[in-house]
Amino acid sequence: MKYAAVTDHLAGLGSDKWTLNAAAHRRAKAGHRVINLTIGEPDVPTPDALIETACAAMQAGRTGYSNGRGEDSLLDALSTRYTTRLNRPFGHDRFLCLPGTQTSLYMVFRTICEPGCEVILGDPMYATYEGIVRAAGATPVPVQLSPENGFRLQAKDVAEKITGATRAIFLNTPHNPTGAILTPEDLRQIGILAREHDLWIVSDEVYGDLTHGGRPFTSALADPEFEERTVVTASISKSHAAPGFRSGWAVGPAEFTARALPLSETMLFGSQPFIADMTAEAVASGTELAQGMAARMARRAQILFDRLDGVAGLRVHRPEAGMFALIDIRALSGDSLAFALELLEATDVAMMPGASFGVALEGWLRVALNASDADTEEACARIAQYAMQKAA
Ligand SMILES: Cc1ncc(COP(=O)(O)O)c(C=O)c1O
Repeated sequence: MKYAAVTDHLAGLGSDKWTLNAAAHRRAKAGHRVINLTIGEPDVPTPDALIETACAAMQAGRTGYSNGRGEDSLLDALSTRYTTRLNRPFGHDRFLCLPGTQTSLYMVFRTICEPGCEVILGDPMYATYEGIVRAAGATPVPVQLSPENGFRLQAKDVAEKITGATRAIFLNTPHNPTGAILTPEDLRQIGILAREHDLWIVSDEVYGDLTHGGRPFTSALADPEFEERTVVTASISKSHAAPGFRSGWAVGPAEFTARALPLSETMLFGSQPFIADMTAEAVASGTELAQGMAARMARRAQILFDRLDGVAGLRVHRPEAGMFALIDIRALSGDSLAFALELLEATDVAMMPGASFGVALEGWLRVALNASDADTEEACARIAQYAMQKAA
């Protein structure tokens, strides 16, 4: 049978990147005491209060069809949140409620791109980004992010990649996997460039509430000068420890959401009212849970730094936000997949090879910060011993 070319474009983009995670699960199933630091899940369960709200809403009959934009309860909560945080009005017409950041990004690129378009984005990047861009028929154009710049995407590097086909600059702030936060000045320079070339700015801000205390987070929507060309996506997956609820949104110009709405209706025919009610409560409830999580993750990044930075030439990069730290292993190996597999085999510690996130992180490992402090300590002890043996 014949299939759409998009299935070829996406084949193999996903699973290869998660080799380490699969290998870690196999070893754990075989009885090894694996410390799995591959996936950035929240380190606490979804709060009982949110689960109770979802259950109560189901029992109250909030199980019918909704609409493509979202339930009023959630649109109200999002309006209040963005109006308060960004200090100017955001009405219901600025939002589309969608199943998570992932679906929101898919919808955004389906709305603004078509075959032949190019999308400029930082490398390293979150593992699904290439697929998101390619699913819209567009071509991802990576810009290498450098540790010297704190892995922050710089307008001057983006400028070098702009062609007549460029349609969007795709930001992720705070960034997975590097934990970098773009500064207001970074965003301003990118905004000026986007305006000059009439480009969209798409910003994945799913980690916006998980800052580690140093640099404050600034949304790409903060500067009203660029709001006609800016779309932000986020969700409650990280901030409220609720990834399984699949609940997020896109916020952009009213014209953008009007254009995207038929696409959303075509694909989803609305969202689930009981999840909308639970999400409304989460969005209105503030950032306490996220702040607690961020504090614990900052502490674990510090454990990694204290135990491993400088050991056998390893260097630890502490994030400004989010759920991951990075280890520079270039003193020991230039092949992050081979190193990560050997490390798992030798120590039962699983980490993602940097190569899963782009060419710029070859020679690095990404470490999830959601294991307990004790497991993080234990992982460090095993890695340090392995690295010293390897260096000897
Ligand atoms: C950068 C980034 N964007 C999006 C997602 C997916 O988020 P959601 O659960 O809201 O779809 C993740 C999940 O790890 C992520 O790290």
